[in-house]
Formats: sequence, structure tokens, C-alpha cells
Amino acid sequence: MRKSVVLITGAAGEIGHSLIRRLHERGDAKIITLDLKSLDESLAPYVERQYVGSIVDNDLLDSILAEYSVHLIFHLAALLSTRSEFTPRIAHQVNVGGTMNLLEFAQAQGRSHGESVTFFYPSSIAAYGFESLEAKIAAGAVGEDVHNSPTTMYGCNKLSCEHLGRYYTRHYKQLDVETPRARVDFRSLRFPGLISAFTVPSGGTSDFAPEMIHAAAKGEAYQCFVLQDARIPFMTMPDAVDAILKLTFAPAENLHREVYNLEAFHPSAEEIRQLVLKAFPGAEIGYTLDPKRMAIIDSWPEAVDDRAARADWGFSPRFGLEEAFDEYLIPNIRATYADGSVD
Ligand code: SER
Repeated sequence: MRKSVVLITGAAGEIGHSLIRRLHERGDAKIITLDLKSLDESLAPYVERQYVGSIVDNDLLDSILAEYSVHLIFHLAALLSTRSEFTPRIAHQVNVGGTMNLLEFAQAQGRSHGESVTFFYPSSIAAYGFESLEAKIAAGAVGEDVHNSPTTMYGCNKLSCEHLGRYYTRHYKQLDVETPRARVDFRSLRFPGLISAFTVPSGGTSDFAPEMIHAAAKGEAYQCFVLQDARIPFMTMPDAVDAILKLTFAPAENLHREVYNLEAFHPSAEEIRQLVLKAFPGAEIGYTLDPKRMAIIDSWPEAVDDRAARADWGFSPRFGLEEAFDEYLIPNIRATYADGSVD
């Protein structure tokens, strides 16, 4: 008999970090992970087995299939938006090719154990694209199905994978004589920028917000690469992980879409700076514009309409902007740097 487990790819990344802890607290799943990097030592005891390797390595995926029975996959591995822009072909290989491999893996798992595999996929506001700042401002809070012409490789990859997930869930091998016994159950969230008190992202374009906050907490000067009025939606990492778990475990009959928007607040860069200065009055935060990264931020919506998430599976973030700073970010970041435990 193969052991029944949950698989997390990209587990050593920011979302993986928080998700492993939360799944461990729930206590109802054995976790295996796949990442190019080993997990942080503090997380290693929470997992049954770590595979250090790539999602584009099909032999490795076959060996996981042979050993484990997987009913739930959190497929988090990806290159983020800024990094993808420098290496678009590799981004496509990893972000889309890797997702195809995992969808095939999920389908094969379902075929072998006879039940559909729930497949959580983190999409992004990068799946949107505006040609101009005027168009972005005019659009306001956007619904899921409009303005889907991303301008970045990462955004194109996210949108492609949303479609692939929908295909595997609804139309997989539609010309076969026999309908597959178990289809993949693909569920996805279009995340806004995420801010964690415990980790800092790398290679993203929304990184200016977490970078600004963490730099101030460390007493380091920071030059923000977008201008004062740059505005996109954000949320805290605990709210993001709550949302992942709520969506993943929601009854299928409540879900009316594969992909949901969500956000908690959408401050300008200057509003974030002011909150950081309130907490760390001596912080040195200036602006040195990177016009190309700013153009990416300007192509993303300033806010999203997340009514479907609220209605279908009860999305309800705990932290608004002020609470995010006062109750989650600042106290935890202070404590983290005070005891030197940041990753
Ligand atoms: N936060 C991501 C990035 O900036 C977008 O999903 O790449």
C-alpha cells in the first residue's frame, strides 16, 4: 500500500513556509514536499519526506507516484514576475511546463486511487494587464473575467495555467470513449501582493512593500523602486494561507468558478511608507524609480472585485490595512529581528 499524503511543491518558498506550519497545526495530513532547496530546519520535523529536485523532472514525479498516494496538491513552485522577465523561456518551462507535469501527476494519481485530486494553484493579479495607467484607474476594482491580457511573462504563465487547470477539471480527454473516473479538482486564487512578517520575497514586483517594512525593522535605508502613487492590492500571509485552506476544503458544490480574486487592502506606496514611518520613525525610505518595474505595477489592477470568493466559500480577511500593521506586521517583525530568527 502507498502512504496517503499531501504534496506541496515550492514548499521552501514564502507561502510554503506558512502553509506547512498551518497544515501541521491542523494535524490531519502527512506532508511531502518538493523544492529545489531544502526546507528551513525549523520546518523539517513537520514533513514526512522532502524531495529536493525540480518540478520539470518527470522521473522524480514518477518515483513520488510510485511511493505515495496523493489526494491533495498545493502547487506553489514558480519563478516570480521580475525574475521571469529576465529569463522568459525558463519561466515558461518552470511555470507552465512544471504545472502541466503536476496536472498530469494529479490525473495519474486520480487514475490510480480512483478519487479526484484537489489541486490548489496560486495565480496572481499579474494575470491582468492594462495598456495604460489611465485604463487601470478607470477600471477600478476588476472582476475575474475582464482585462485578462497580461503584459509580463509571469502573468501570461499564470493565465495559461488557470486555463490548463480548468481544462483538466472540466474537459480532460473529452474525445475519449470512456469518461475518466476521476478528474482533477483545480482550485485557484489570484493573489494580490503578499506581506509576511517572517519572510521576505525574492524576484517579485510587489516586493517593494515587504522590502520597505523589513528594511525599516532592520534599521536599513530603503529606496522604493516605484513612485508614491503606485497602487496594487495586498494582503497578509496569514490571511492568504487562511484563504488557501478555506478554498481547498470548501464543498465542491459551493464553488461556481475555478479561479477567485481576493484582496484585503490596496494602499499606495506612500500610504505604506507612512505606516512604516509611524512604526519606525527614524526609518530612511526614499524613492528611486525603476520605470520598467513601475510599468509592470501600472499594468496590474489597483483593486480587485472579490465578491465571488466571499459568496462561495466565505472569504473574509482578518487584517485590514491598519490592523495588518498594528496587530500582525509590526509586532511580529520587531520580535523576529530582535531574536534574529528571520529566514
Ligand atoms: N507578488 C508577485 C510578484 O510580484 C505577483 O504575484 O511577482
